[in-house]
Amino acid sequence: MPTVTVVDHPLVQHKLTLMRRRETPTAEFRRLVREVAMLLGYEITRDLPLTRVTVETPLEETEACVLAGKKLCIVSILRAGNGLLEGMLDLLPSARVGHIGIYRDPRTLEAVEYYFKVPQDIAERPVVVVDPMLATANSAVAAIRRLKRAGATDLRFACLLAAPEGIAHFHREHPDCPIFTAAIDRCLNDHGYILPGLGDAGDRIYGTR
Ligand code: PRP
Ligand code: URA
Repeated sequence: MPTVTVVDHPLVQHKLTLMRRRETPTAEFRRLVREVAMLLGYEITRDLPLTRVTVETPLEETEACVLAGKKLCIVSILRAGNGLLEGMLDLLPSARVGHIGIYRDPRTLEAVEYYFKVPQDIAERPVVVVDPMLATANSAVAAIRRLKRAGATDLRFACLLAAPEGIAHFHREHPDCPIFTAAIDRCLNDHGYILPGLGDAGDRIYGTR
């Protein structure tokens, strides 16, 4: 069964509230996205497998845990996904990175792909797809479909805010991909924006409006 994990840690909720505020300036918004990404990343990676290795401490040899298997790949849905990507890379500096350029047609709300570049061996890696907003889920559904076509099988999706409509759509299309979000908001407005939401994530991260 698909899962939605709401990361309700007090730090996440506090920072999310600061991001929702209309008056939060661009620099602070960008910093908050990065910080929350790190906290989401902590939850998303909770079940990564470990293996034991031998290490020598300054005092003696011992057995200790390290991450097993191939390094994770973070895939950012451009452009707002790059805000979350920064924080994820703070936490997972050796992760591989993919980019999918997708924008939402403002009239139809359909996803339009304009760029795709991911590691060649993505089929062998756990993949975390990042985009701050899951609204209609058209963008996320298209991104995951494209990644599956490229061979990815172990997929998770991380966002800041999800709308109930988007979650339902996403789960219909990709029941095998768990969602991690900082909050589930009330609904979408007539223009496909999340309410109460935080506005246009890309514009707020990059100060374009
Ligand atoms: C935003 C957001 C998601 C998408 C969510 O991107 O970052 O990608 O909308 O909406 P959906 O769930 O209804 O598809 P946008 O299209 O504004 O592009 P941008 O990141 O380039 O600003
Ligand atoms: N994209 C955004 O950036 N914000 C929304 O509320 C919906 C889609």
